[in-house]
Amino acid sequence: MTAATLDRPAPLRQRLASDGTHLAACSIAPRTLDVDEAIARMLHDVSRPSFWQACEQQVALARESFARLIGADVDQIAVLPNASIAAHQAASGRRWQRRHEILSTPAEFPGIAHAWLAQPGARVRWCGAQGGAVHTSDYLSQITPRTALVSVPAVTYRDAIRLDVARIAEAAHDVGAVVFVDAYQAAGVIPLDVNALLCDYLVTGTGKYLLGLPGMAFLYVRHPGGTPPALTGWLGRTDPHAFRATILDSPPHARRYETGTPAAAAAYAAVAGLSLINDLDLRQVRHHTQRLIAAAAQRLAAQGEVVRLAADADAQGAHLALVEPHAEAIGAWLGHRSVIAAPRSGVLRLAVHAYTTSEDLDAVCEAIAAYRCRSRTRPGAAR
Ligand SMILES: Cc1ncc(COP(=O)(O)O)c(C=O)c1O
Repeated sequence: MTAATLDRPAPLRQRLASDGTHLAACSIAPRTLDVDEAIARMLHDVSRPSFWQACEQQVALARESFARLIGADVDQIAVLPNASIAAHQAASGRRWQRRHEILSTPAEFPGIAHAWLAQPGARVRWCGAQGGAVHTSDYLSQITPRTALVSVPAVTYRDAIRLDVARIAEAAHDVGAVVFVDAYQAAGVIPLDVNALLCDYLVTGTGKYLLGLPGMAFLYVRHPGGTPPALTGWLGRTDPHAFRATILDSPPHARRYETGTPAAAAAYAAVAGLSLINDLDLRQVRHHTQRLIAAAAQRLAAQGEVVRLAADADAQGAHLALVEPHAEAIGAWLGHRSVIAAPRSGVLRLAVHAYTTSEDLDAVCEAIAAYRCRSRTRPGAAR
């Protein structure tokens, strides 16, 4: 495979804390020295009287760094425990009456789709195939005057299909619908600018391409305000430190969507991961990952593997989905050989990032070829 590297891939690569080949950032970030140090700092801070102030400072830093990453204002960002809650918060306060349809896709991450299905009075309309294939045109053809909310994964979690969010948002806004984007599979590895995406809400979590730990998600809200969310807590108040149990007020900014104490370890790790990400030029990273994916797909196809790849490189996210009914078995086999991939529902996902080298992809291609010999399985077929 020809070398496909960033101009300076080494600094981030050198921050990885474990050896081996990590191709699983679509599921879990690789450990970095920076997160290790952040967790050590958190454990040190826990035994100090100022722990809660230190923790709040980390949350504030994480909020600021994420706002910078997506071109938003800090007042447009809510810090939440996970993306499913973020979807509920985005839907909160909406009355699903004359305009009662939510447009989503079977390729949506289930937690987000379930938040839509749980909305009383709303009807979810699905676009794209049951099997997960979905195109921008599927969305465009199903937006109607009854559409209230359009939910678009920036990149689908299983097959890495990248949708044209801005085009979908334009069409949604034309009929008066709002747009929710799940950017979990894009943030940290694909440049995102909420003003170019034109979305009204965007969610992502810290434990994948953002190089932090699970336990924290960010919700961007273009226009915070309106009916306050029913799910709330002391951090959703105008002045949480007033500790007034009898008063339920809501600030005009996105912190109105927050609830209770955040996961401290995830907050410290988020700051460390976001600092690594904000040091990168994500346009360059995107170029790097596209070249790596194209080369790996070509080699795997030559080995006889069945690979799901978009015809247009722009419509592909940062991972490659290899069709494999026993994806867990091959994932475990690779894991024993220090190659960490991410099996999910009939595909083995190989995720690339700024730290990935062509040698990593050589290693996984060779290991997959060895697996076929040893297991006597055929690509894409049941054993
Ligand atoms: C696209 C996408 N959205 C959301 C999530 C996670 O959702 P939650 O934070 O609610 O667990 C994942 C995790 O795998 C994901 O891939």
